[in-house]
Amino acid sequence: MQAKPDFDSLLNQGANTYNTAVGDWWSSQASDKAHKKAYRQIATQARDYYSRNSRPEPRFIVDYACGNGALLHELHLQFPHSVLIGLDGSEMLLKNLAAKGVGRASVAKVQRKDLFAETGPQVRLLETRLPDFKLPKNQADLVFLCFPNLIADEEDLSGFNKNGYSNRFDVRVAELLSRFREMDPEDEVAPVDSHEMFDDLLTAKVYSRNLQRLLKKSGVLIRVDYANAPRHEMTWLTQTRSHFAEGSLEYDIKGYHAVQIFKEMESLYQKSSVILDVYHQTGDETDRNGGYYSTLFESL
Ligand SMILES: C[S@@+](CC[C@H](N)C(=O)[O-])C[C@H]1O[C@@H](n2cnc3c(N)ncnc32)[C@H](O)[C@@H]1O
Repeated sequence: MQAKPDFDSLLNQGANTYNTAVGDWWSSQASDKAHKKAYRQIATQARDYYSRNSRPEPRFIVDYACGNGALLHELHLQFPHSVLIGLDGSEMLLKNLAAKGVGRASVAKVQRKDLFAETGPQVRLLETRLPDFKLPKNQADLVFLCFPNLIADEEDLSGFNKNGYSNRFDVRVAELLSRFREMDPEDEVAPVDSHEMFDDLLTAKVYSRNLQRLLKKSGVLIRVDYANAPRHEMTWLTQTRSHFAEGSLEYDIKGYHAVQIFKEMESLYQKSSVILDVYHQTGDETDRNGGYYSTLFESL
């Protein structure tokens, strides 16, 4: 196993984080047996959803923050005729991906404007800071956000403000959800103060807006998150905060309605030792058990 990096100092490096030992650690984690199995299950979930709903084969599939491309590999097996687009901010991980290849597909870095072109390599990579609101709009059929650890930098602030961070409907709901506390203090996720929670909720919502902007109407998004239990077993507050962050919150909070951009269609939970990714970073014994859930949404 790859030695564990010093996360405390390295995760503070903003945009550059995954060009450091954290990138090497991630490459090693993403290639172990548990991750391979997870990526296979996630690609299969998409394939099954397409078959069950008689959807036409997706033409353009985006892996948002694709890292070293382990999921792209499985997507190519399930959707051998689709164009795969990998977006990531790490020069190092994209370089590794291009060198390793994706099955027998052609792989190359392309410019933003050529990501969804009719002709070009089957696997197209773009090194970019996310969220990126200059990406072509409404082009993707299927988008993935898998095991995200998205790092937003101070320099991205104006981009966040211009793209929904200050939306008055979302701000009202985020204020409430960040102030609410669990009935049982033991259920409180982390000792996060309400200011930090407010910022986390609105930051995550801007990422969701960026994901939705990529998608065609009724396009499919699959988000994969580490979890200690199936989604429906979480407390009301945890579920509601997640729905808000994803843009899939359907109900009012004290009479206020957040902007809904996705509809949740299904969520699958798998026990898996991928949860050790979290344990490596937190050192918290409770993060040794669990797995992940993969939740499928349609864009509204
Ligand atoms: C934990 S890895 C997950 C990679 C991939 N989704 C997977 O499941 O194998 C997180 C990835 O997000 C990328 N990332 C984090 N913050 C980013 C940002 N602001 N812009 C672009 N990429 C970012 C990192 O470079 C890294 O590849």
